[in-house]
Amino acid sequence: MRIYLDHNATTPLRDEVVDAMVAVLRHGYGNPSSSHREGAAARRRVDDAREQVAEALGAAPGEITFTAGATEANNAVLQALCAEPDRGRHLVTTRAEHPSVLEPAAYLETRGFEVTWLPVDAEGLLDPQAVAAAVREDTALVSVLWANNETGVVQPMEAIAQLVKERGALLHVDATQAVGKWPVDVGRVPVDLLACSAHKLNGPKGVGCLFARQDVAVPPLLRGGPQEKGLRGGTENTSGVAGFGAACELARRELPERMERYAALRDRLWEGIRAKVSGVRRNGSAANCLPNTLNVELADTAGEVLLQALDLEGVAASAGAACHSGSITPSHVLSAMGRTPDEARGSLRLSVGHGVDEMQIDRAIELLAELVPRVRGAGVE
Ligand SMILES: Cc1ncc(COP(=O)(O)O)c(C=O)c1O
Repeated sequence: MRIYLDHNATTPLRDEVVDAMVAVLRHGYGNPSSSHREGAAARRRVDDAREQVAEALGAAPGEITFTAGATEANNAVLQALCAEPDRGRHLVTTRAEHPSVLEPAAYLETRGFEVTWLPVDAEGLLDPQAVAAAVREDTALVSVLWANNETGVVQPMEAIAQLVKERGALLHVDATQAVGKWPVDVGRVPVDLLACSAHKLNGPKGVGCLFARQDVAVPPLLRGGPQEKGLRGGTENTSGVAGFGAACELARRELPERMERYAALRDRLWEGIRAKVSGVRRNGSAANCLPNTLNVELADTAGEVLLQALDLEGVAASAGAACHSGSITPSHVLSAMGRTPDEARGSLRLSVGHGVDEMQIDRAIELLAELVPRVRGAGVE
């Protein structure tokens, strides 16, 4: 039996999602831009999905542009929007962003933009006042991650959005990890732009969206066709979009129950680890955390060795450091929180989701209690 505790990396598809996609793949093959019946049916399917996605986010359907995922949406906002000549040349973002924001921001820096890289505290939290204080006359955009993919830390987005709005700047939010696990309502939280991705909420890979509030003029993300009101040229990924819609509908209906169930599993996992494994501490604010995410630091442990041992025993998880060509790169998120390279290396991300049950959690705890002492010290200088 495999125990999949890596739902922040990607999630399994729900049956309802597969059914919606297969129906389109088998019968809804029309091109939504065609004027015949097949085309009209495909257009309706895309429009229905747009409504499902919009409803899950508290948005209007016209504010949703389908993309090939959150990386595309984040890049589009940072690169296309910031390239507009009437925008300032200053960007505000944080040191704990996902690479799909970090790297476009760093690229803009090489192209003459000034970037204010805001710090997070030891718990991974941003100070909303500091975000607002970084806004200047020439600030083109403020871009902030709602919930962190590595630690699950959830930023005080309502306060950040209010303050940034008062300062008159445009706010983009990467909500990829929040949607489906946390209440995301753009009707309540005044963000201007927001990116998310279907595969993090039991939908398919390669599809996501950009929400842009009605009064925010977004330049075309991809030129070359009338699709998505000319904002993103290219024939729509109709089956992917249908799957995304179905996933959003499920997320909207199930959110309160999901949050409760995930939190119970995550807390059971943490309590079990704390009771049975020595030298552990939790990374990130426990009070401001996605219900499904647990990031733990295991002292004197090479995370990559532990991950392999866990994988062999049937558990899929993720580490706080990446191994590239034999060298270990500590997580930039944990580094931004003040963790040393060794502490980051010994950190493990465990993220629960659909299909995980208490028996699996108990087995994972047992395995960690057995494997950590065995691995401890190995590969750590
Ligand atoms: C916070 C965050 N932003 C963006 C992305 C990228 O999403 P996608 O895989 O849809 O490009 C991810 C996925 O890893 C993520 O966790």
